Amino acid sequence: MDFTLWALSILLGSLACSASSDMSTIVVDLSSHHLSFVPDQLSPDTEILDLSCNHIGALRREDFWQTPRLWFLNLSHNVIQSIDKEVFHSTQDLEILDLSHNKLHSLLDQLYLRMTSNLRCLDLSFNKFVNMTLGFEFTNLEKLEDLELSAEVIRNEDFASISMLHLNSFTLYVWDHTSYESGSLTNVSSKKIIVSAQTDCDFAILNDAVKSFSEVKLVGITVDKFDIVAQQRETIKATHLDLTNTSASWQHLTSVVNNLLYSSVKHLSVTGLTIYNMETGSKVGKLWNMESFTIRQAIVTVFLFSQEMLYDFIINMPVQNLTVAQTPIIHMTCPKYPSKIRMLNLADCALSEKVFSRGGKREGMIECDTLQSVEILVLKGNNFQDFKQLSSRVSLMSSLLSLDLSQNKLSYQSEQGDCVWPLNIVQLNLSSNSFDSLVFHCLPQNITELDLQNNDITVMTTDILKYESLKILDLTNNRFHNIPDCTAFPNLQTLLVSGNSLQSPSLDFLKTCPMLQNLDASHNTFICTCSLQEFTSIAGKTAAAQIKLLHWPRHYSCSYPEAWRGALLKNFSLPAVSCSAGLLATTILVPAVALVIAVAVLCRQLDGPWYMSMICQWARAKHRGAVNRDKPEDLQGVVFHAFVSYSQRNAEWVKGQLIPKLEGEESTWRGLRVSYHERDFIPGKTIVENILHCVERSRRCIFVLSSDFVHSEWCHYELCFANHQRVAKGFDSVILVLLEPLPLYMIPSKYYQLKDMMSRRTYLEWPHERAKQVLFWANLRAALQADLPTESPQRDGQEEE
Ligand SMILES: *[C@@H]1O[C@H](CO)[C@@H](O)[C@H](O)[C@H]1NC(C)=O
Ligand SMILES: *[C@@H]1O[C@H](CO)[C@@H](O)[C@H](O)[C@H]1NC(C)=O
Ligand SMILES: *[C@@H]1O[C@H](CO)[C@@H](O)[C@H](O)[C@H]1NC(C)=O
Ligand SMILES: *[C@@H]1O[C@H](CO)[C@@H](O)[C@H](O)[C@H]1NC(C)=O
Ligand SMILES: *[C@@H]1O[C@H](CO)[C@@H](O)[C@H](O)[C@H]1NC(C)=O
Ligand SMILES: *[C@@H]1O[C@H](CO)[C@@H](O)[C@H](O)[C@H]1NC(C)=O
Ligand SMILES: *[C@@H]1O[C@H](CO)[C@@H](O)[C@H](O)[C@H]1NC(C)=O
Ligand SMILES: *[C@@H]1O[C@H](CO)[C@@H](O)[C@H](O)[C@H]1NC(C)=O
Repeated sequence: MDFTLWALSILLGSLACSASSDMSTIVVDLSSHHLSFVPDQLSPDTEILDLSCNHIGALRREDFWQTPRLWFLNLSHNVIQSIDKEVFHSTQDLEILDLSHNKLHSLLDQLYLRMTSNLRCLDLSFNKFVNMTLGFEFTNLEKLEDLELSAEVIRNEDFASISMLHLNSFTLYVWDHTSYESGSLTNVSSKKIIVSAQTDCDFAILNDAVKSFSEVKLVGITVDKFDIVAQQRETIKATHLDLTNTSASWQHLTSVVNNLLYSSVKHLSVTGLTIYNMETGSKVGKLWNMESFTIRQAIVTVFLFSQEMLYDFIINMPVQNLTVAQTPIIHMTCPKYPSKIRMLNLADCALSEKVFSRGGKREGMIECDTLQSVEILVLKGNNFQDFKQLSSRVSLMSSLLSLDLSQNKLSYQSEQGDCVWPLNIVQLNLSSNSFDSLVFHCLPQNITELDLQNNDITVMTTDILKYESLKILDLTNNRFHNIPDCTAFPNLQTLLVSGNSLQSPSLDFLKTCPMLQNLDASHNTFICTCSLQEFTSIAGKTAAAQIKLLHWPRHYSCSYPEAWRGALLKNFSLPAVSCSAGLLATTILVPAVALVIAVAVLCRQLDGPWYMSMICQWARAKHRGAVNRDKPEDLQGVVFHAFVSYSQRNAEWVKGQLIPKLEGEESTWRGLRVSYHERDFIPGKTIVENILHCVERSRRCIFVLSSDFVHSEWCHYELCFANHQRVAKGFDSVILVLLEPLPLYMIPSKYYQLKDMMSRRTYLEWPHERAKQVLFWANLRAALQADLPTESPQRDGQEEE
């Protein structure tokens, strides 16, 4: 579809008739396809058909019978000699037909035109026509608006067939050999005539053109030649005269202009002018008849001439609208007398800051005070840089309402000084310049519409005067990161910040913009995160806030993060929870805090941590038991599950609780074999020897720790660990039972083995609550349980006793 539209714009680009078409138009482009015939496989839906630049020699009867919807047909640049008179039988909608640059012979037998009563545009120029005599068929073209013709001989009555038609535009291509019988054109009724001279042409054609038509465009006819026509100024009836692609000497140009000032011509326009001779011309007349004078694309090919003469002639033209555009003039003078010019357009020239001023550096600049009627001044596309100076140049143009300074290199710095503007300026176009935010210090006070597109403004300075009248501010394509507020423009109605660097604009500006109605923030690099949701919310609320978001939603899209890139802002949303701090607190933090508190309370009440650590240890002991099954050789000579070591102070607990619990007083579980010094120590041996003896025959060692034990008994063990590697190794399987809290600092520093074990090993704490004791015993048992080789141990002590 894109291609179709593109093709359509190419096809219709050069079309004089305004061809309206919508998106669904079917375009078939077969130009330059080396076709010798109209192809018969055309789609029946074809509406626009381009067959130009082929080798088609004839249009046959059925060529377009398959394409009833055809309304545009370009057959130019073929070799068509014959056209069947019924070829357009089925294409009743045909509006535009281009048959130019073919080999048709006679305008008298274009019989196919009988079937084309809806034609609006017909081009038959550049064929092999000798006589211009139009056939009777032309009378049928009641809707014809544009007609283009060329023939070698033009005589009276040739156009009789179209004398009843009211054309919009009639184009005649002529050569120097075209023979023209004076008065022939008077039978053509058209608003506008275009005479395009391919080489040169007969005076009579020009005469008839300016006499019979109100709008005359002469292409390729020199001003010098037209001068002769212009001299008979009384006979001229045209009101619009356009000389295009022309050349002139200064003398003839001034002569033509002066003559036309006294003619009916109200709008004179010269486009594509080459002035090849600047010798003296006449001064410009003073008669106020002409309304507008336009020169476009003019060049002077002479090097040395008085530029002032040229400028003076132009600026003193007695017209309301004066345009000199796309012409490399570097200066424009100030009119000698108060000028009546109301619209002065000097766009796309090469003007500098000195424009309109008089005097040089020494006498000081004299500002122009005779352009007092100028209301609209267009100075776009020149070489201006100094904004302050320009304000001075126009400061005496007291009627100035609208000033266009776009497409220059203007900027403003405070060093340039204060700006002086005429009071009436309401419209200022400063687009495509180099302004930064300082520009707001140099604006006309009563401005209502300000265009600052394509500049380098990043922020709105706040220390500026108030521009109470400003209603429309266009900041498109600048570099704002946030939407500027209206502190300085309290009555702003339309704010355009499209194409800036807005990422997640805040809505703070709304507070200062009470009158704002339209906001355009499209084409920005929005970052779609929580903070943007504030902004997108105004799209939903616009009705309430009475702000219309222009180009919403089509041109508002996310550029970050990756996941949202390209998505429309309209479609962007995040869960409300993740964006609102309050919600976040209530939905996540509050429950979390509540949980923590609950757990803390539960722990305090029920000793959660104690249970947890007990369960852990139990699980670990079970696991260890399963994984590290004792190797048989490790169990060689081992007869006890555990050797219990304790201080005398704790003997009661050991003998009353520990031993019975482990040895199986209760029948619920298999008894363990436990040894302890009171029972198993051999008298006569030293304590250390006894300890070693017991330790060797026990799988585990249980130390019942209390401060008493540490201070009275531990010294022996410390000695054992230090002196007997084997025992130290055996003591890998030490189990510490804490009968009372035993902080590390209470352990004398010389017992580094104990300190080490205390800090590394998890120990079992004896709980005083009965309920917990069950778990304690289970844990202890799990740590001790093992299958020992000898079922009934022989107690050494008893044996020897
Ligand atoms: C027809 O095609 C020719 C050559 O491509 C082009 O110059 C001309 O403007 C076209 N005519 C119309 C009416 O578009
Ligand atoms: C042109 O018109 C003249 C006079 O009517 C006639 O003699 C001549 O044959 C015509 N030429 C053509 C090619 O029709
Ligand atoms: C053509 O113009 C001439 C001269 O103006 C006039 O006498 C004649 O009647 C016109 N013919 C038609 C058909 O209008
Ligand atoms: C202007 O006229 C000259 C001859 O007079 C011609 O060669 C040239 O192509 C024309 N240019 C345009 C743009 O019509
Ligand atoms: C003069 O220019 C203004 C602004 O472009 C326009 O509105 C007006 O119609 C023009 N007047 C004439 C007489 O061309
Ligand atoms: C300002 O000038 C630019 C280009 O010169 C133009 O596109 C724009 O429409 C103008 N602005 C107004 C408000 O006329
Ligand atoms: C322009 O502004 C001045 C004050 O700076 C005010 O006195 C004057 O009335 C205003 N003129 C217009 C036309 O609004
Ligand atoms: C936006 O959402 C609509 C449906 O709500 C969907 O049709 C459309 O394709 C989406 N547009 C983009 C650019 O994601």
